[in-house]
Amino acid sequence: MEIVIVPSPEDGGRIAADIVCGAIEKGARTLGLATGSSPLHTYRELIKRHRESGVSFAAMSAYLLDEYVGLTPDQPQSYAHTIRTELVDHLDIDNARVFSPDGGAADPSEAARRYDAAIVDNGPIDVQILGIGLNGHIGFNEPSSSLTSRTRVKTLTERTRADNARFFADPADVPHHVITQGLGTISDAKHLVLIAEGARKAPAVRAAIEGPVSAFCPASVLQLHPHVTVVVDEAATGEL
Ligand code: GLP
Repeated sequence: MEIVIVPSPEDGGRIAADIVCGAIEKGARTLGLATGSSPLHTYRELIKRHRESGVSFAAMSAYLLDEYVGLTPDQPQSYAHTIRTELVDHLDIDNARVFSPDGGAADPSEAARRYDAAIVDNGPIDVQILGIGLNGHIGFNEPSSSLTSRTRVKTLTERTRADNARFFADPADVPHHVITQGLGTISDAKHLVLIAEGARKAPAVRAAIEGPVSAFCPASVLQLHPHVTVVVDEAATGEL
């Protein structure tokens, strides 16, 4: 595991964008995308490099980590919508090749299985961007998730619902269920890039990097992966 400590979140965005652009130069064709605030500096940097340096994403496909059950891509709080407005609409990537779990499916468990099969068939994902939740979750794999889990329906903890309530008009609107790539699915990617910023994330960063590998800190599964880069600002390293 490579740990890159940067002075500021903006520097972290540049480092993560270097990794993505470097991989594209070497022939990477499949990106794994995360929502949340952690990757935003990375996405801004990728948009800048596309506009100013001509980095092209035209040959790329992308897979999102997760989606809320009950939200469709036209709803602003859905992750499919969020990733379009934050990244995809500003690049030359073909929207039809940006995939996310079908949160609006009548049978979410079946939609999860289909999504996992699509990743297996079209993968592996070359570079997977990850954030980390305050309780150590990645994607929406809450504590106690199996380290070998595949894409499936999960129930959010009240803490994660509260953490994500800022994106909804009313905290009660935060869905209880999600479809998330499993920890095993995420681990199939060739290169995992975890981005964490701010002192709030320091305990989760410590548990992920220095703690025991345990289902109770889902991000600790990264310790088992052969190619991981953790990009953290100084504030997030406070407990290392
Ligand atoms: C959500 C997402 C995760 C993300 C986490 C942290 O739970 N499902 O993928 O890593 O939030 O979000 P933030 O980066 O906003 O702190």
